[in-house]
Amino acid sequence: MSTPGEPPFRVLLPERQIVRRIRELARALQDGMGSEPPCLVAVIEGARPLAAMLQRLLPGSLPLHEVAASSYRGTASSGQVSVVERAELPCRGRDVVLIEDIVDTGRTVAALRAHFGAKGARHCRVVTLLDKPDRRCTEVAIDHVGFTIPDEFVIGFGMDIDGRYRALPDIVIYDAEVERAFAGRSRSDPAGG
Ligand code: IMP
Repeated sequence: MSTPGEPPFRVLLPERQIVRRIRELARALQDGMGSEPPCLVAVIEGARPLAAMLQRLLPGSLPLHEVAASSYRGTASSGQVSVVERAELPCRGRDVVLIEDIVDTGRTVAALRAHFGAKGARHCRVVTLLDKPDRRCTEVAIDHVGFTIPDEFVIGFGMDIDGRYRALPDIVIYDAEVERAFAGRSRSDPAGG
Protein backbone atom coordinates (compact mmCIF):
# COMPACT_ATOMS: atom_id res chain seq x y z
CA MET A 1 0.00 0.00 0.00
CA SER A 2 1.33 3.50 -0.78
CA THR A 3 1.54 6.25 1.85
CA PRO A 4 -1.47 8.62 1.87
CA GLY A 5 -0.55 12.12 0.64
CA GLU A 6 2.48 10.81 -1.26
CA PRO A 7 2.81 9.63 -4.87
CA PRO A 8 1.72 5.98 -5.23
CA PHE A 9 5.22 4.56 -5.75
CA ARG A 10 5.52 0.76 -5.88
CA VAL A 11 6.36 -0.67 -2.47
CA LEU A 12 9.42 -2.91 -2.53
CA LEU A 13 9.73 -3.54 1.22
CA PRO A 14 6.98 -2.67 3.69
CA GLU A 15 7.99 -1.18 7.04
CA ARG A 16 6.93 -4.26 9.00
CA GLN A 17 9.25 -6.50 6.99
CA ILE A 18 12.12 -4.01 7.37
CA VAL A 19 11.70 -3.82 11.14
CA ARG A 20 11.61 -7.61 11.44
CA ARG A 21 14.83 -7.90 9.44
CA ILE A 22 16.58 -5.21 11.50
CA ARG A 23 15.90 -7.26 14.65
CA GLU A 24 17.68 -10.19 12.98
CA LEU A 25 20.59 -7.93 11.96
CA ALA A 26 20.93 -6.73 15.56
CA ARG A 27 21.09 -10.34 16.79
CA ALA A 28 23.78 -11.16 14.21
CA LEU A 29 25.80 -8.08 15.19
CA GLN A 30 25.49 -8.95 18.85
CA ASP A 31 26.70 -12.50 18.21
CA GLY A 32 29.81 -11.09 16.52
CA MET A 33 30.60 -8.55 19.25
CA GLY A 34 33.73 -9.13 21.34
CA SER A 35 34.18 -8.22 24.99
CA GLU A 36 34.93 -4.56 24.22
CA PRO A 37 32.09 -2.34 22.98
CA PRO A 38 32.40 -1.46 19.28
CA CYS A 39 32.35 2.08 17.90
CA LEU A 40 28.97 2.39 16.12
CA VAL A 41 29.08 4.72 13.14
CA ALA A 42 26.11 5.66 10.95
CA VAL A 43 26.62 7.00 7.46
CA ILE A 44 24.27 9.98 7.36
CA GLU A 45 21.72 10.91 6.29
CA GLY A 46 20.29 7.71 4.89
CA ALA A 47 21.37 5.20 7.55
CA ARG A 48 19.88 7.14 10.49
CA PRO A 49 16.66 5.08 10.88
CA LEU A 50 18.55 1.76 10.66
CA ALA A 51 21.28 2.99 13.02
CA ALA A 52 18.81 4.29 15.60
CA MET A 53 17.04 0.93 15.67
CA LEU A 54 20.29 -1.03 15.94
CA GLN A 55 21.49 1.23 18.74
CA ARG A 56 18.27 0.54 20.68
CA LEU A 57 18.45 -3.21 20.07
CA LEU A 58 22.14 -3.74 20.90
CA PRO A 59 23.12 -4.14 24.56
CA GLY A 60 25.24 -1.62 26.44
CA SER A 61 23.66 1.72 25.41
CA LEU A 62 26.40 2.25 22.84
CA PRO A 63 26.94 5.83 21.67
CA LEU A 64 26.09 6.36 18.02
CA HIS A 65 28.55 8.36 15.94
CA GLU A 66 28.00 9.81 12.50
CA VAL A 67 30.05 10.21 9.38
CA ALA A 68 29.06 11.91 6.14
CA ALA A 69 30.06 10.51 2.76
CA SER A 70 28.75 11.93 -0.42
CA SER A 71 29.00 10.88 -4.03
CA TYR A 72 25.40 11.05 -5.18
CA ARG A 73 23.62 13.68 -7.22
CA GLY A 74 20.11 12.68 -8.24
CA THR A 75 20.12 9.06 -9.40
CA ALA A 76 23.65 8.93 -10.85
CA SER A 77 26.85 8.34 -8.88
CA SER A 78 29.64 10.83 -9.54
CA GLY A 79 32.38 8.33 -8.63
CA GLN A 80 34.13 10.66 -6.18
CA VAL A 81 33.51 10.02 -2.48
CA SER A 82 34.30 12.58 0.17
CA VAL A 83 34.26 11.57 3.85
CA VAL A 84 33.54 14.15 6.54
CA GLU A 85 33.64 13.55 10.30
CA ARG A 86 31.59 16.28 11.95
CA ALA A 87 33.12 15.30 15.28
CA GLU A 88 36.32 13.28 15.75
CA LEU A 89 35.39 9.57 15.86
CA PRO A 90 36.90 7.55 18.71
CA CYS A 91 37.86 4.56 16.56
CA ARG A 92 41.62 4.17 17.09
CA GLY A 93 42.39 0.61 18.25
CA ARG A 94 38.68 -0.28 18.29
CA ASP A 95 36.27 -2.39 16.30
CA VAL A 96 34.06 -0.19 14.15
CA VAL A 97 30.54 -1.17 13.09
CA LEU A 98 29.78 0.88 10.02
CA ILE A 99 26.05 1.25 9.36
CA GLU A 100 24.96 2.01 5.77
CA ASP A 101 21.55 2.39 4.16
CA ILE A 102 22.48 0.91 0.79
CA VAL A 103 25.58 -0.37 -0.97
CA ASP A 104 25.38 0.42 -4.66
CA THR A 105 28.65 0.85 -6.59
CA GLY A 106 30.56 0.03 -3.39
CA ARG A 107 32.67 3.19 -3.58
CA THR A 108 31.32 4.72 -0.36
CA VAL A 109 31.97 1.64 1.75
CA ALA A 110 35.42 1.22 0.16
CA ALA A 111 36.27 4.87 0.97
CA LEU A 112 34.98 4.53 4.53
CA ARG A 113 36.84 1.26 5.15
CA ALA A 114 40.04 2.99 3.97
CA HIS A 115 39.22 6.02 6.13
CA PHE A 116 38.79 3.98 9.32
CA GLY A 117 41.84 1.86 8.49
CA ALA A 118 43.93 5.03 8.16
CA LYS A 119 42.61 6.26 11.50
CA GLY A 120 43.83 3.10 13.23
CA ALA A 121 40.57 1.18 13.69
CA ARG A 122 41.31 -2.45 14.59
CA HIS A 123 38.57 -3.90 12.44
CA CYS A 124 35.61 -2.54 10.48
CA ARG A 125 32.39 -4.53 10.19
CA VAL A 126 29.85 -3.27 7.66
CA VAL A 127 26.12 -3.67 8.03
CA THR A 128 23.82 -2.39 5.30
CA LEU A 129 20.05 -2.43 5.08
CA LEU A 130 20.12 -2.88 1.29
CA ASP A 131 22.56 -4.26 -1.23
CA LYS A 132 22.34 -3.64 -4.99
CA PRO A 133 25.04 -6.05 -6.23
CA ASP A 134 24.22 -5.52 -9.93
CA ARG A 135 25.70 -2.02 -9.76
CA ARG A 136 28.96 -2.88 -8.04
CA CYS A 137 32.10 -1.23 -9.47
CA THR A 138 34.40 -1.83 -6.51
CA GLU A 139 34.72 -5.15 -4.66
CA VAL A 140 33.88 -4.54 -1.02
CA ALA A 141 33.32 -6.89 1.89
CA ILE A 142 29.91 -6.47 3.51
CA ASP A 143 29.37 -8.42 6.69
CA HIS A 144 25.60 -8.14 7.17
CA VAL A 145 23.00 -7.41 4.48
CA GLY A 146 19.34 -6.75 5.28
CA PHE A 147 17.95 -7.27 1.78
CA THR A 148 19.49 -7.80 -1.63
CA ILE A 149 17.50 -5.77 -4.15
CA PRO A 150 17.41 -5.39 -7.95
CA ASP A 151 18.89 -2.41 -9.78
CA GLU A 152 16.16 0.11 -8.94
CA PHE A 153 16.45 3.54 -7.34
CA VAL A 154 14.71 3.28 -4.00
CA ILE A 155 13.54 5.85 -1.47
CA GLY A 156 12.02 5.82 2.00
CA PHE A 157 13.14 4.55 5.41
CA GLY A 158 15.88 7.21 5.41
CA MET A 159 16.72 7.12 1.71
CA ASP A 160 16.03 10.09 -0.50
CA ILE A 161 16.21 11.58 -3.92
CA ASP A 162 17.54 15.13 -3.69
CA GLY A 163 16.38 15.34 -0.08
CA ARG A 164 12.83 14.14 -0.72
CA TYR A 165 10.93 11.11 0.67
CA ARG A 166 13.31 10.16 3.51
CA ALA A 167 10.39 9.97 5.94
CA LEU A 168 8.39 7.39 3.97
CA PRO A 169 7.97 4.39 6.28
CA ASP A 170 8.24 1.78 3.49
CA ILE A 171 11.02 1.36 0.96
CA VAL A 172 9.54 2.16 -2.45
CA ILE A 173 10.79 2.38 -6.02
CA TYR A 174 11.25 5.94 -7.24
CA ASP A 175 9.45 6.69 -10.48
CA ALA A 176 9.57 10.24 -11.87
CA GLU A 177 6.44 9.61 -13.99
CA VAL A 178 4.40 8.56 -10.95
CA GLU A 179 5.65 11.66 -9.13
CA ARG A 180 4.75 13.99 -12.04
CA ALA A 181 1.29 12.49 -12.49
CA PHE A 182 0.62 12.80 -8.76
CA ALA A 183 1.77 16.44 -8.69
CA GLY A 184 -0.47 17.20 -11.69
CA ARG A 185 -3.50 15.61 -10.01
CA SER A 186 -2.81 17.47 -6.74
CA ARG A 187 -2.63 20.80 -8.62
CA SER A 188 -5.93 20.25 -10.45
CA ASP A 189 -7.63 18.89 -7.32
CA PRO A 190 -5.95 20.49 -4.28
CA ALA A 191 -8.62 19.10 -1.88
CA GLY A 192 -7.81 15.59 -3.11
CA GLY A 193 -11.49 14.74 -3.52
P1 IMP B 1 27.79 3.70 -3.50
O1 IMP B 1 29.00 4.46 -3.10
O2 IMP B 1 27.55 3.78 -4.98
O3 IMP B 1 27.77 2.28 -2.98
O4 IMP B 1 26.55 4.45 -2.95
C1 IMP B 1 26.19 4.46 -1.64
C2 IMP B 1 25.30 5.64 -1.37
O5 IMP B 1 24.58 6.07 -2.54
C3 IMP B 1 24.26 5.23 -0.37
O6 IMP B 1 24.69 5.44 0.94
C4 IMP B 1 23.10 6.12 -0.74
O7 IMP B 1 23.21 7.36 -0.06
C5 IMP B 1 23.24 6.37 -2.23
N1 IMP B 1 22.36 5.48 -3.01
C6 IMP B 1 22.71 4.45 -3.80
N2 IMP B 1 21.63 3.86 -4.36
C7 IMP B 1 20.58 4.53 -3.86
C8 IMP B 1 19.16 4.37 -4.05
O8 IMP B 1 18.64 3.48 -4.75
N3 IMP B 1 18.38 5.25 -3.36
C9 IMP B 1 18.88 6.23 -2.55
N4 IMP B 1 20.19 6.41 -2.36
C10 IMP B 1 21.03 5.55 -3.01
